Amino acid sequence: HIRIKNILSEPAVYAGNKLTACGWVKTVRDNKTFGFIELNDGSCFKSIQVVFDDSLNNFSEVSKLGVGASIAVTGVLVESSGSKQPYEIKADSIEICCASTTDYPLQKKRHTNEYLRTIAHLRPRTNTFSAVFRVRSHVSYAIHKFFIDRGFVYVHTPIITASDCEGAGEMFQVTTMDLKNIPKNADGQVDFSNDFFTKQANLTVSGQLSAETFAHAFTDVYTFGPTFRAENSNTARHAAEFWMVEPEIAFAELDDNMKLAEDMLKFIINYVIENAPDELDFFNKFIDDTLIERLQNIVSSDFGHVTYTEAIELLKNSGVKFDYPVKWGMDLQTEHERYISEKIFKKPVFVTDYPKEIKAFYMRINDDNKTVAAMDLLVPGVGEIIGGSQREERLDVLLRRMKEMNLKEEDYWWYLDLRRYGGTKHAGFGLGLERCIMYITGMTNIRDVIPEKTYTGKILD
Ligand code: 4AD
Ligand code: MG
Repeated sequence: HIRIKNILSEPAVYAGNKLTACGWVKTVRDNKTFGFIELNDGSCFKSIQVVFDDSLNNFSEVSKLGVGASIAVTGVLVESSGSKQPYEIKADSIEICCASTTDYPLQKKRHTNEYLRTIAHLRPRTNTFSAVFRVRSHVSYAIHKFFIDRGFVYVHTPIITASDCEGAGEMFQVTTMDLKNIPKNADGQVDFSNDFFTKQANLTVSGQLSAETFAHAFTDVYTFGPTFRAENSNTARHAAEFWMVEPEIAFAELDDNMKLAEDMLKFIINYVIENAPDELDFFNKFIDDTLIERLQNIVSSDFGHVTYTEAIELLKNSGVKFDYPVKWGMDLQTEHERYISEKIFKKPVFVTDYPKEIKAFYMRINDDNKTVAAMDLLVPGVGEIIGGSQREERLDVLLRRMKEMNLKEEDYWWYLDLRRYGGTKHAGFGLGLERCIMYITGMTNIRDVIPEKTYTGKILD
């Protein structure tokens, strides 16, 4: 069978030929002796019109088809006499794969995103979600293309790991122990000796530490896969399970890192502009009418740069009363991040050199001994979409920092080895895939860019 997008984009190639198209019924109209079906297969927004008549041996079943039924139509592509579409399929036979009943939850009207979340298994058949997930596919491909074309090596870092990269204690534990009967040592600690892994194992919060080991062998690497955080997912931009792309580059500093992030994001957006124009038109029409203009501005202008200390001053001088009071040393909240990118810079902006107290142990300490060589990319509408840093490559400084943060040397012996044998200045970052897709589509809730409601926290119960 042939995908509907292919038929509609090159009808002259198929006209007059017999072909088969498979898909789901959007609408059926029947007129006693003939009828029309709008058929969609998810390859594009457009449906193809199918004309059928009572020469079909299953004419009465076909006439009674419900919205959402799956069918395979075989017939000839002919010019259509209707004005709405230039071509249609004149059906010789229609195989009904699976009928659909009148209680099909997707009616021919606009449903709210909140309602559609309750039928997450059916929403990919709507125009909005069809577009979101085609864009998600394009973005993922663009990410691989960007890095592979630049000679990066794609590394599959582990999903189950003993380490907590971010040190934020937001891990989901993985265990074979009976949770109702967890063995304890004499000192009251959990006894992992009979557990599958014999020590605490977690779902990864970030592949960074493993990516660093590979960067010390392949120079430029990236990992791209699912990550998990047991943090409050009850917001419009946090999910318990999300995807992250994490490049790690050796012989590189923070500026190289920011340049890489800016090039990558521009490449992704250009790729979507070129490869998903219909989807972007749709989002521009139904979700955010400034979207396309905004995306074009992003790829054609330079991102902003500001240090954390400067950003705090700008926020203080803004005259705005934020819910969370602005003070040097605080972590930026979404309201601050959005104000900086939406109101002050009006474009993506890198905030650099955060206080060391609010950042992870691996970030390189600056000469002031107060801040670290961190970079977050903040964008209008979403806030932080990238978090990254130059890494601490000096063994003595790293050891001191780990001690300050009560991290055990023996848990990180292999990580420290990278600083003992052929260490390099190196840097990297993580881009949250879902937040990137929100940014490119204009969708405002992370739940509407992930395939299913599972693993997104309480709000969906
Ligand atoms: O800023 P984060 O925590 O950085 C790291 O994990 C680093 N180890 C990355 C690195 O340097 N290799 O997370 C990176 C990005 C965030 O900017 C955000 O886009 C996304 O991951 N992110 C989330 N997305 C959805 N739901 C969550 N709960 C997220 N937590 C982080
Ligand atoms: Mg971050």
